[in-house]
Amino acid sequence: MDEPLVVARLRAAGCVFAEDEAGLLMATARTPEELDAMVERRAGGLPLEQVLGWAEFCGLRIAVDPGVFVPRRRTEFLVQQAVSLIRGDSIPPDPPGSPARPGIIVVALCCGSGAIAAALAAAVDRPEVHAVDIDPAAVRCARRNVPGHVYQGDLYQPLPARLAGRVEILAGNVPYVPTEEIGFLPPEARAHEPLVALDGGPDGLDVLRRVAAGAPDWLAPGGHLLIETSDRQAPLGAAAFAAGGLTARVETSAGLNATVLIGTLPGGGERASPGGPRHLTDCGR
Ligand SMILES: C[S@@+](CC[C@H](N)C(=O)[O-])C[C@H]1O[C@@H](n2cnc3c(N)ncnc32)[C@H](O)[C@@H]1O
Repeated sequence: MDEPLVVARLRAAGCVFAEDEAGLLMATARTPEELDAMVERRAGGLPLEQVLGWAEFCGLRIAVDPGVFVPRRRTEFLVQQAVSLIRGDSIPPDPPGSPARPGIIVVALCCGSGAIAAALAAAVDRPEVHAVDIDPAAVRCARRNVPGHVYQGDLYQPLPARLAGRVEILAGNVPYVPTEEIGFLPPEARAHEPLVALDGGPDGLDVLRRVAAGAPDWLAPGGHLLIETSDRQAPLGAAAFAAGGLTARVETSAGLNATVLIGTLPGGGERASPGGPRHLTDCGR
């Protein structure tokens, strides 16, 4: 199948970026038969990234399996904010000749494919990375992407107890679509991403509230909790952070159409105050 035919089939199926998608599909398929099958699946409505088997995120190629939430470009803003905090925290470099010390502890909750965890692992110097998801398909996928420990279970439940009080970055793109708004999502999301990845309860904040309530048990003094949210939900989300004992602020990116709540556990001295460059463009790498 030549490129104009691929473009025509994609366009007929309603793909807005048919030329771009055709290029990606043709570059990824190893045989004409595979290309035909991929075009068929894409024309049938499967998200492009699930057809390709990967998504670009923070300059990395993240494996994405069918039925697993596709990492969104807007979530790169959360990674940028986390990297900025880590750099602002000015963890002292090792003196020359000293043995390698363990890096900072990073935990990604609701990790999905593991995109956030993988990006932080790539951007930070020798981090110890842990990631959790409740969905076995997401966990299998994340194990392909995350250079660290990936656990299956409910939020904090599967984390090793030794991490309590020691986590410096706790990050999550938790489900935050209000239940009644699921029906308004694009068909690609509704049909091919699991409900557990999308549904955040009546106001979309059920999982965020549980994460915020549990965070003080796991964060190190001065450690940070970062959760993606929407502008509309940010005030209620910030209240949940405060109820959990975290100082909360909201960062937004107009370019990425992204909003991130950042909470800090008091007690870290100068490390509790945010610093460092705020507008990294490349996820810090
Ligand atoms: C919006 S997706 C985000 C995935 C990933 N962080 C990303 O940005 O690509 C939310 C993820 O949360 C997981 N999840 C939902 N409820 C959970 C829970 N109680 N404990 C752990 N994971 C959960 C879902 O399985 C899904 O993979």
